[in-house]
Amino acid sequence: MDNYPRQVRLVEVGPRDGLQNEQAEVPARIKIGLVDRLAAAGLAAIETTSFVSPRWVPQMADAVEVMAGISRRPGTRYTVLVPNLKGLEGAIASGADEVAVFPAATESFSQRNLNCSIAESITRFAPVCAEALRAGLAVRGYVSVVLGCPFEGAVEPSAVAEVAARLVDLGCHEVSLGDTIGTGTPAANGRLLEAVSRRVPMERLAGHYHDTYGQALANIYRALEMGMAVFDSSVAGLGGCPYAPGATGNVATEDVLYLLQGLGIETGVDMGALLEAAQFICNHLDRPTSSRAGRALALKAQRETQ
Ligand code: HMG
Ligand code: MG
Repeated sequence: MDNYPRQVRLVEVGPRDGLQNEQAEVPARIKIGLVDRLAAAGLAAIETTSFVSPRWVPQMADAVEVMAGISRRPGTRYTVLVPNLKGLEGAIASGADEVAVFPAATESFSQRNLNCSIAESITRFAPVCAEALRAGLAVRGYVSVVLGCPFEGAVEPSAVAEVAARLVDLGCHEVSLGDTIGTGTPAANGRLLEAVSRRVPMERLAGHYHDTYGQALANIYRALEMGMAVFDSSVAGLGGCPYAPGATGNVATEDVLYLLQGLGIETGVDMGALLEAAQFICNHLDRPTSSRAGRALALKAQRETQ
């Protein structure tokens, strides 16, 4: 128990990573309602939208409207994903607090997601990070496909460590390691974190686990044992990645919160308010939550009011 962090910061990525993968159009007012409810639940960092090419990800084409419509809560950090300087311009104009850049650990995924090689993406992200920092924004970095690539299969931890180190060189205060297709298992995750933390200290690393194979909570538990204290998650388990065939949602925020509460780890997030945010988006999408804890807690509440 003693090795676990006392506090964990949850980065809510549902409005971006979740909704970027919805086939049905989600109106901006619903996205705004979701972000505001997540902020009210105490999530201190919310990845709100992305300023990417609308040809590539039409679901995020309303980024300007979403950023203009949210009610800024003091203390909440509103982050947006940006692939290039054009995206950064949009991010700055929208008043984002933080931008996230997102190179990949494999060449095939880099081509599919960013239409360029890993080296080209780093070259392209360098001025994005420098300009963002000059404008007073924080910069977060992702490395995608850290525990498996849909096109290349297994990924060498050293390749991930190299990209993570480059992101720190570019000025990222934090590097989030993305298991984009959710194939990672705790053993592989342990080896990955060992390798990456030799180049980037654990205090600057975050875990971003998609739950495709049901391994996300186990991976988080392994990461907690190794001292990781920042995790990305998605309300109601929404999500996927449009350029990763077969990838399902991120681990559900409710499930991670339930795990952390059980370990006595502080997050500042209120479960009741989080469940309301989940209910709000699930009602709109007209489908049940993907969160196991969310489902169980909703049924329990129903039984108690009967
Ligand atoms: P490209 O086609 O090579 O770029 O795409 P381009 O510069 O030739 O531009 C093409 C068109 O897009 C032009 O419009 C540009 O103006 C426009 P046109 O003149 O043809 O009408 N454009 C933009 N519009 C708005 N905002 C922008 C922007 N940039 C160009 N920022 C590009 C290259 C990088 C733009 C494209 O590949 C792209 O947008 N990729 C983003 C893909 C994406 O969002 N993927 C999902 C997020 S990543 C993810 O989910 C993984 C993660 O969760 C971690 C994990 O799970 O591991 C982060
Ligand atoms: Mg993701």
